[in-house]
Amino acid sequence: MPAFQTTPGMRDVLPPESARWRRFVDVYAEVVEGAGYGQVIPPLMEDIKVFARVGDATDVVTKEMYDFVDKGDRHVALRPEQTASVCRAFVQHRPATPWKVWYAGPNFRYEKPQRGRYRQFDQVGVEVLGANDPYLDVEVIALGWDFYRRLGLRQVTLLVNSLGEPDDRARYVEALRAHFTANLDALSADSRTTLTKNPLRVLDSKRRDDADLIAAAPRIRSFYSDTAAAHFETVVAGLGALDIPFTLDPTLVRGLDYYRRTTFEYQGGTLDSAQNALGGGGRYDGLVEALGGPATPGIGFALGLDRTLIACDDERVFAVGDTGVETFVVDTTGGLEALTITRELREAGITCDRAYENRSMKSQMKGADRSGARVAIIVGTDELERGVVTVRPLRGADEQSAVARTDLIDSVRKALS
Ligand code: HAM
Repeated sequence: MPAFQTTPGMRDVLPPESARWRRFVDVYAEVVEGAGYGQVIPPLMEDIKVFARVGDATDVVTKEMYDFVDKGDRHVALRPEQTASVCRAFVQHRPATPWKVWYAGPNFRYEKPQRGRYRQFDQVGVEVLGANDPYLDVEVIALGWDFYRRLGLRQVTLLVNSLGEPDDRARYVEALRAHFTANLDALSADSRTTLTKNPLRVLDSKRRDDADLIAAAPRIRSFYSDTAAAHFETVVAGLGALDIPFTLDPTLVRGLDYYRRTTFEYQGGTLDSAQNALGGGGRYDGLVEALGGPATPGIGFALGLDRTLIACDDERVFAVGDTGVETFVVDTTGGLEALTITRELREAGITCDRAYENRSMKSQMKGADRSGARVAIIVGTDELERGVVTVRPLRGADEQSAVARTDLIDSVRKALS
């Protein structure tokens, strides 16, 4: 075993998988920029109080934060998510509304690592600040949905719920507390602990002993105010108008405390149930205010890159394309020819690689093969003396040919076409 390895929950992303990650973000950027979202790049680290506003009843804040005191005596934390950072940025910079932004990048949560659950994990997301329109909720939900379709995923399901206005939610929480407290004996020990901190999260329990009690729990819909009910009805109708299939799930409460009204989650069809949330989001109308800004509605989602790629593997979609080079230079005359030829090719926009250390022809040809190149450009002493190079197609039936060194670029282009 090597002396140093990644610490638990941390991973190296190596080629070719890293190319797939980049492509993932590229496709995502295409989808959201096509809908008017601009990229925001928040710092990885913030004043810990920024994240504390995400809610002190969530494990993400109370147990899982990577926090420390910096050399200037500031208590800071690595971001566990980016919604709070985006809201902090909104308050700090006061951009015009609606502010539609997207982001991509790593987040940190000290969780128990397992497949699809890491301590450093990547998300792509969007946030929109300053618009209350229910059709915006539909746009946001549809964007995530369409992105999954673009990746080729077909087994994703969409769950939708509304947590009502803050008052509705508060009355509902009290009703839940009463319901579960009256049946404490039937509740699992873990859920009893959850109940003291956040009765809503008991609905999230996947434990079988809690299932009956959860099924019998009061439903949020009877607590909606007229405005909350009307907003949600419009969202549901909008999703219908776009033909996006979804399931109304009254127990969908999500893991973070800031949600109000619309909440939603995209679930994969292939992962373990504990890790099958590929992404999720909702409205968080109070968060900007909690961070010291003006009352501002907000909505967004974050999609887990790691879990979504696992779902892609399971559904056999979004495979890594050919990331190799087009050409490979084999030079058995010392390497100076390869140096100049590779530069010439690259300047002409032709991707190429080469062998090093003046190895044998056989060994260099092996390298050409591994590189995935379609054409090898070969220079031996004979070619060097005659002022030519050999252009050898590595796939298909075409013959190799000796071409003048001065015709190199044209000949390689022809061989590639
Ligand atoms: P979240 O549900 O905590 O929401 O995370 C969103 C997604 O990030 C999850 O569905 C999952 O795919 C991925 N994820 C979370 N934790 C991990 C982990 N430890 N390992 C791997 N993947 C993980 C949020 O973060 C909210 N900020 C979403 C949001 C944006 N709501 C409104 N705007």
